[in-house]
Amino acid sequence: MKVNGTHYRPIWQAADGSAVEIIDQTRLPHEFAVARLASMADAAHAIRAMLVRGAPLIGATAAWGLWLAMREDPSDSGLASAYETLMATRPTAVNLRWALDAGRARLATVAPGERVAAAEAFARRVCDEDAELNHAIGRHGLAIIEAIAATKPPGETVNVLTHCNAGWLATVDWGTATSPIYQAHDAGIPIHVWVDETRPRNQGAFLTAWELGNHGVDHTVIVDNAGGHLMQRGRVDLCIVGTDRVSANGDVANKIGTYLKALAAHDNGVPFYVALPSPTIDWTLHDGFAIPIEERSPDEVTRIPGRLDDGTTGAVTITPPGSRAANPAFDVTPARLVTGLITERGVAPATPEGLLGLFPERVAAGE
Ligand code: MRU
Repeated sequence: MKVNGTHYRPIWQAADGSAVEIIDQTRLPHEFAVARLASMADAAHAIRAMLVRGAPLIGATAAWGLWLAMREDPSDSGLASAYETLMATRPTAVNLRWALDAGRARLATVAPGERVAAAEAFARRVCDEDAELNHAIGRHGLAIIEAIAATKPPGETVNVLTHCNAGWLATVDWGTATSPIYQAHDAGIPIHVWVDETRPRNQGAFLTAWELGNHGVDHTVIVDNAGGHLMQRGRVDLCIVGTDRVSANGDVANKIGTYLKALAAHDNGVPFYVALPSPTIDWTLHDGFAIPIEERSPDEVTRIPGRLDDGTTGAVTITPPGSRAANPAFDVTPARLVTGLITERGVAPATPEGLLGLFPERVAAGE
């Protein structure tokens, strides 16, 4: 996607091949900064500290992390230690495990002397495939938006509500939840997005609003508690969110607060779609309650960063001294509240049969 007219992905190999570069998402929207990852430790830090975030991008960063690790130590023990370090960075997005399992399996088939080249090819492939999967998700989601637009008077705006950032910043390109939105916008469908601010880290207000604005998509940032009211008043035609892990029965883990939006959508008859590439499906889990939920620092709740009136950036404390804060970062939306799962292969009902219908090879795999 474009930033001020220049095409960017959120992660790429440095032009001289010496490192990996990322858009530092902790600095957006107030500053566009590129950070350099020169070591596997840098990659692990970038994931843990959320310079990169979003399930597919976490997986892509881990793949590049393996490349950086193989440059440092391509031995079997170097590979095992890089796998463990990167795997420990964040617990909920299963794309991390998916990328590391696939990368380790690939690298184990080649001699240590060939691992740097193999890891580089693997990371490039993970990135290119993610961009392709997300583009395909957008085509299937576009059909949903077109169908809703067709029920409205010609030229009337389709209103989408989204939560967190499941945009191109969270992936390698296009985004998951945003891919149908960008493709509808590019196809000339009038579209407007209600952007949940997504406390505590404000991925909606900071990141989704920034990238929608860059692409020229009409949007309005709302506080997290506004969605139910807007749905009651008929001001939301559909919700589309991303996900960090979908269990085999169609339960969906996503950014904290997603469940409440799904409940409100259900109560108001608003379709609630979840967009995901297949590496986000955890076929080993029968239901979503086994998904590990990341607990993050209470500081993310008690303090809010932003741009001050004098133009500098900083953070303010919003709670009284002595008040405790809790920070579960994800929740699980039961499959019964999900209208459909938008994947690269089409839209599936959020059921075991629905998922296996789109991925029949998993039946053969015994899932
Ligand atoms: O904590 P984050 O910012 O990594 O959480 C991101 C989300 O919850 C996204 O909605 C999810 O990863 C889907 S990204 C396409």
